Amino acid sequence: MRRLLMFVVLLTAQLQIQAQTALSYEQARQAVLTAEEELMTGGHTHLNTEEEKVDDIFMEYKLGELAQGFRNAEQNAAALHFFKAKPLIDRSAIFRFLQKMPKGSVLHVHNTASVSSKWVVDDLSYMPGLLRCTTATGQSILSFRRTPKEHKCQSQYVLVSDERRNSLDRQVYDRNFERLINLYTPVPELEYPTITRVWDRFQGMFDGLSDALIYLPAFRAYHWQMLEELYNDNVMYTEIRTSFKTLYDASGRTFPRERTIHELYALNQKFMKLHPDFLGFKVIMAVYRGYELDHLKDIVEVFKKLHQALPHFLVGFDLVGQEDKGKPLYSLLPVLRDLPPTARLFLHGGETNWFGASTDINLLDALLMNTTRIGHGYALAKHPILLNAVKSRRIAVELSPISNQVLHLVWDLRNHPGSQFFALDVPVVICNDDPGFWNAKGLSYDFYYAIMSLAPNNAGLRLLKTLVWNSVRYSTLTEEEQTRAFKILELSWSRFIDDVLEGSVF
Ligand SMILES: *[C@@H]1O[C@H](CO)[C@@H](O)[C@H](O)[C@H]1NC(C)=O
Ligand SMILES: [Zn+2]
Repeated sequence: MRRLLMFVVLLTAQLQIQAQTALSYEQARQAVLTAEEELMTGGHTHLNTEEEKVDDIFMEYKLGELAQGFRNAEQNAAALHFFKAKPLIDRSAIFRFLQKMPKGSVLHVHNTASVSSKWVVDDLSYMPGLLRCTTATGQSILSFRRTPKEHKCQSQYVLVSDERRNSLDRQVYDRNFERLINLYTPVPELEYPTITRVWDRFQGMFDGLSDALIYLPAFRAYHWQMLEELYNDNVMYTEIRTSFKTLYDASGRTFPRERTIHELYALNQKFMKLHPDFLGFKVIMAVYRGYELDHLKDIVEVFKKLHQALPHFLVGFDLVGQEDKGKPLYSLLPVLRDLPPTARLFLHGGETNWFGASTDINLLDALLMNTTRIGHGYALAKHPILLNAVKSRRIAVELSPISNQVLHLVWDLRNHPGSQFFALDVPVVICNDDPGFWNAKGLSYDFYYAIMSLAPNNAGLRLLKTLVWNSVRYSTLTEEEQTRAFKILELSWSRFIDDVLEGSVF
């Protein structure tokens, strides 16, 4: 911020001098444009000669695509809701570039919504023994438990395989099944007219799927697929938010929570061994914010035990659930203060359109609690002092454009406050939050909106590179791990630059 103030002073002085010495209008005009460009995220990122060439190529495609959107608003993916834009994005050259670009890490993703819905339908729903029942409100619950312990349903459990066999058309059955775990609709404005409507359905998806995912074989297959999808999208590392539910197996046996974290740990080791250029994942325990205080305190005790056993794997704590519905962080301070000093906080904050409401004030408490990063921080631009603190303390904002759009904070992503964060050089990392639940996959779709909608027209490789490097810098990888991460990233990045110059990307 000091730099910003200095700039304003300098600029004012400069303009006065120009006025006095009658420097041209054009010079003053150019001075402001250049200064803003240099101020923004990536403004000082150095590009070598090859990268400069790639930037030129990238900009040609980017400006071409934006110009096309400008001429034809109906085809302007950057301004459209993701459900309408996806077919356009899939055909975009910029998107292909972003898919192939090494993207570093994803630092905000919820494990049980991380995998594409197509995989859940094609693989998980075909696993033998999957059962489905319906609650009084019409919500489907999926499970592999032969004797469900908490039967919340009104209907009996039926085997998904039986339902599918008895259905008239298997493909229609699968398409309907996919709707249980994917918010996609061609008309989001009609199906989700309010934030509550979309959040209720979204929350329902977690509730419907969660018991099926803690069936040990499904748990392993699902998390393996999560890593595959990130890896195939050129992501090299991730920090996942998870609640550590207890697992069960086919015989109905249940395991203590220690088993859950050890399963994840073993999976991580196995995946890294198979992919030496992948740095694996770490875990943030994410707990439903609506629980009673006593229950939350019990969970913190569990967290302490697990964290003590694997402090570099289970790195911290977070609270999840629709922020507007509570509870505010302020009321949860007794719980958060009880966390061990080695545990870090990664708090969701300001995922709201309300200004001055308790949800919005969560940002203040997150910062007072010394959160390591902020989940969303959507409301941050409305709080100059907090914004200042985030900048000077280098607290990264985990920005998830598609999430904010699908979950009803903003329709046209060119109006996303991330634009201000870029303009003011607030530390940002691009994240995907829950890609599986909204018809996305990996991280590239969020990068598309970041560079095409949130960023100014003329932002190219400097900004992209800064965002990618940020995703490693603001991770909880130890210094030693970061050194290795940057080494791997430099290598894959320069290979990518070569590929673009050889013409194999565009
Ligand atoms: C946050 O960090 C500051 C500065 O290091 C420290 O004085 C303060 O006690 C910390 N607050 C909490 C709640 O840990
Ligand atoms: Zn989230």
